[in-house]
Amino acid sequence: PATHASLLTIFGATGDLAQRMLLPSLYSLQAERLLPEGMRILGTARSELDREGFAQLVADSIQQRIPAHERSEEALRGLLERLDYLPASADDDASMAALAARVQALRAGDVLYHMSTAPKFYGPACQALAAHGAAGPGTRVMLEKPIGKDLASAIAINDAVARAFDEERVYRVDHYLGKEGVQNLIALRFGNALFEPLWNARHVEQVQITVAETVGVEGRGDYYDDAGALRDMLQNHLLQLLCLVAMEPPARFDPTAVRNEKIKVLRSLRAIDASNVATESVAGQYTAGAIDGAAVPGYVEELGRPSRTETFVALRAHVDNWRWSGVPFYLRTGKRLPARSTEIYLQFRKVPYSIFGGAAAADMRPNGLLIKLQPEERIELDLMSKTPGLDRHGLRLSQVALDLDFHQEFSSARRRIAYERLYLDAIEGNGTLFVRRDETEAAWQWVDAIAAGWRDAGMLPRPYPAGTWGPGAAISLVDRLGHGWRE
Ligand code: BG6
Repeated sequence: PATHASLLTIFGATGDLAQRMLLPSLYSLQAERLLPEGMRILGTARSELDREGFAQLVADSIQQRIPAHERSEEALRGLLERLDYLPASADDDASMAALAARVQALRAGDVLYHMSTAPKFYGPACQALAAHGAAGPGTRVMLEKPIGKDLASAIAINDAVARAFDEERVYRVDHYLGKEGVQNLIALRFGNALFEPLWNARHVEQVQITVAETVGVEGRGDYYDDAGALRDMLQNHLLQLLCLVAMEPPARFDPTAVRNEKIKVLRSLRAIDASNVATESVAGQYTAGAIDGAAVPGYVEELGRPSRTETFVALRAHVDNWRWSGVPFYLRTGKRLPARSTEIYLQFRKVPYSIFGGAAAADMRPNGLLIKLQPEERIELDLMSKTPGLDRHGLRLSQVALDLDFHQEFSSARRRIAYERLYLDAIEGNGTLFVRRDETEAAWQWVDAIAAGWRDAGMLPRPYPAGTWGPGAAISLVDRLGHGWRE
């Protein structure tokens, strides 16, 4: 069994993700005294830095990312004391030999590696560590997303990593699983007896999962244009959310039980392919428009060349099993949408019979449960209630919301970076919130069929102006069954 790591080695330690997310997360863990005593942090990347240079980069990134009132000299010192740095590159064997030697010198027990580089380096880096004796028992590796760009490339990466680390020692990151709101979904489902009896096709009419972003491609055009919304967001984040909503109760909150249930969901997804892409999916690409009143360029202008890459995707998915038979799961995600918003919405079936005639009958709305993950963490239960007061035509009804805002409820809770949870778990050797190989590959298989379907059917992304909710077809996808995206 894994014990806590005595050494964390970060590949890509000077990169963008490290500076924005990883190093600030480690700082927060340090400040909350959650890092194991004596655990060292070894940064590595191509940059020819020394220990002091790396420490300066870490201090700068904390200065930029952690609000002043949350910073303490003591915590910063505590973190800096743990640091070491050695330049290395997976394609330079001598540098990897030196790195492996440094790892062996610094470790006092388990080692956690974190690959935060381009995915093509995962296999070579892992194999070099193995070749130099630094990947044996007591070591484990965290892999950043994306694991490949389709099933074949994912298998190639997973195979290459597997030659050095067996599956129990591989921790695939989907940072959505580290978000408080996502874990709260698990708490809501399995910490309450109230919802489970309703959590099925008999009572749920439809499910919607929306991950909307206002940002464009943020200077990552080269990567993004190869990926698109389907591969960049839907294959991982939206399907993980779908799994957590749709899965059966796991026997325990542990890596095997939880992931065994998630993989069953992925394997129950009805195929969307050339035969039905035209009715079950919509792809879009943003054109020039405005976000919050500020003009923004279109995707091809931002990219600087023509492109058929989708920046928006909406799907109608079905989980073909007893629990969910016939319930549409509408998934949508896109860049340059009007608001940053991540939410899951379950709409329940209508009352079986309305005792109200007249105006009140027209007021009736189905119940709904909203689980809001971003920007704020909130749970809202939509109910019907009597409209206060008198009406000549009898009773009137209104939809009202029972609203639980986590930051009001737990006023001491700070907004966390998802990597705080993920690092803590990986350091402790708990893989529950990481993605297993079979999940990644099942997700790619399902998504590959959609991409191939678009290609075979000659479907091109439809334009939508930045600052709108995607192409109009995304609305009709949902309207066709008499549903509608939750406003
Ligand atoms: C990443 C995608 O995985 O998730 C980005 O590559 C996207 O394109 C990001 O912007 C969204 O994450 P978050 O945490 O901001 O919702």
